[in-house]
Amino acid sequence: MMRKSDSVGGKYVSDIQQLKDELEQLEKRNRDLTLLLESAFELKSGLTSMDHPFPINVIHSLVIALDSRDPYTSGHSSRVALYSLWIARELGIGEEECKHFYRSALMHDIGKIGVPDRVLLKTERLNDEEFQSMISHTIIGARILSNVEPLERMIQATEVAKYHHEKMDGSGYPEGLVGESIPFYARIVAVADAFDAMTTDRPYSLGISCQDGVEEIVRCKGSHFDPVVVEAFKNVMQVRNYLKGGDIDSPYIFE
Ligand SMILES: [Fe+2]
Repeated sequence: MMRKSDSVGGKYVSDIQQLKDELEQLEKRNRDLTLLLESAFELKSGLTSMDHPFPINVIHSLVIALDSRDPYTSGHSSRVALYSLWIARELGIGEEECKHFYRSALMHDIGKIGVPDRVLLKTERLNDEEFQSMISHTIIGARILSNVEPLERMIQATEVAKYHHEKMDGSGYPEGLVGESIPFYARIVAVADAFDAMTTDRPYSLGISCQDGVEEIVRCKGSHFDPVVVEAFKNVMQVRNYLKGGDIDSPYIFE
């Protein structure tokens, strides 16, 4: 027979578990908002740093339009741009070029504007036709960006949009490029993009922890991802303590 103290003890344990779950969700939310804030700061600080053929307010509007299509991936573009920027800085790329790259990374998924809702929002496994439609966002994005004048200033953004799903072993898309034939900046965004996809909650699965996400990226070093980019990414995440705590007063935030 169950004693009263057992049921009280059981309720106590389930209350504790519920509080732990809620705390975990709040920590995740805090982390996401901190990242969005930092990304917005980068966007703002880039306003006066250089001329870009795509006005920043237009980029911002496009990203908002994209994010509003799918609430579950809201903030994805901003986080990927921020991770990409951190990697670029870690690799010693000059600040002006980093700012330019940040804008390119923000627009990496812009082609998803051309993917129908029935594919973009589908939570079950995509069939072949739907998968082809989904992967066409790389080509559509490149087509959108490559038409912006002056063309030479849009080469990087176009390459990032087109090639951020390529893999080092040639198993990616849309062209199955191998190794260093994948444009360098697309190789950076590939790491940032995969990490964000793994660590973000979806309607059908919970995201893994940032530490596990980094380990998974490291596991795919050389096969999927550029080893040099992976090492830089690993360093960045170690220094940032795997984004634990969303500590806005961290010396590494707003540096
Ligand atoms: Fe993408």
